[in-house]
Amino acid sequence: MITEVPKTIIVTGGASGIGYAFCEHLAELGHRIVIADLRGADESAGKLRSAGHKAIGVTADVVSETDVAAMADAAQQEFGGIDGLVNNAGLFTTLALKPFDQITNQEWMRVMEVNTLGPFNCAKAVLPALRRSGRGRLVNIASTVPIKGAPNMAHYVASKGAVIAFTRSLARELAKDKITVNAIAPGFTLSDGVLQSDLQNRIGDNARTTGRCIQRDQVPADLVSALAYLVGDGASFVTGQTLAVDGGGVFL
Ligand SMILES: NC(=O)c1ccc[n+]([C@@H]2O[C@H](COP(=O)([O-])OP(=O)(O)OC[C@H]3O[C@@H](n4cnc5c(N)ncnc54)[C@H](O)[C@@H]3O)[C@@H](O)[C@H]2O)c1
Repeated sequence: MITEVPKTIIVTGGASGIGYAFCEHLAELGHRIVIADLRGADESAGKLRSAGHKAIGVTADVVSETDVAAMADAAQQEFGGIDGLVNNAGLFTTLALKPFDQITNQEWMRVMEVNTLGPFNCAKAVLPALRRSGRGRLVNIASTVPIKGAPNMAHYVASKGAVIAFTRSLARELAKDKITVNAIAPGFTLSDGVLQSDLQNRIGDNARTTGRCIQRDQVPADLVSALAYLVGDGASFVTGQTLAVDGGGVFL
């Protein structure tokens, strides 16, 4: 149990994968969790409640302004406010890997829509509540791929570079409201989506462990303590940062 006052935290894409690992860990620390996802949000929130935690699920597409407004309303109705947003929903695990000149305009725009418009929409929807909180936390889930310049996924790499830039810009805008804005950059992680789409075999050993100080596969559990720190009261003087959690693959 944490010693600080628990927060109400929305995690987008929280029904499965890295997002669910985040939700479970934050719930175990005593935070109130709102899982927002295209599918499976109610079931995953139900699992948390069965374990004695405070959680609700909201079906929401982060691309839809209407959906994310309803997400923010549901969180405030259930828990009386919102203290944190984790922009975790993203298109990655289902992407076909291909040279950049074979990526269609539609594929490019779709990745940008979910991975950059989504976090923008969600941040706007929760902003009034985060301001009222007086200790707001916004954490964007980026990636190490824009640092490494990973090949064969240029749309995804560009989208996550944008997430890091967005994080820095919002940090400057929102500090006056006592809202911190940071990013976590995971390395290649064996999430549910990765395993279901066999991405770990499609992407090759190069992305999995080459260049990592710690020579093993990364799993969602490797990421959760970094998020707990960034949403915690102890991180109130940390903003605009991107924390790489990747076994020492890149040094920022
Ligand atoms: N797995 C990795 O190797 C890795 C590495 C670096 C960064 N990331 C990032 O971490 C995040 C989670 O990745 P993951 O591997 O757990 O993915 P995943 O595919 O396993 O899970 C993604 C979740 O997001 C949800 N989602 C997708 N589009 C959505 C939308 N439009 N609205 C609401 N929810 C939506 C899905 O339903 C799913 O529950 C993503 O932002 C991803 O880019 C992943």
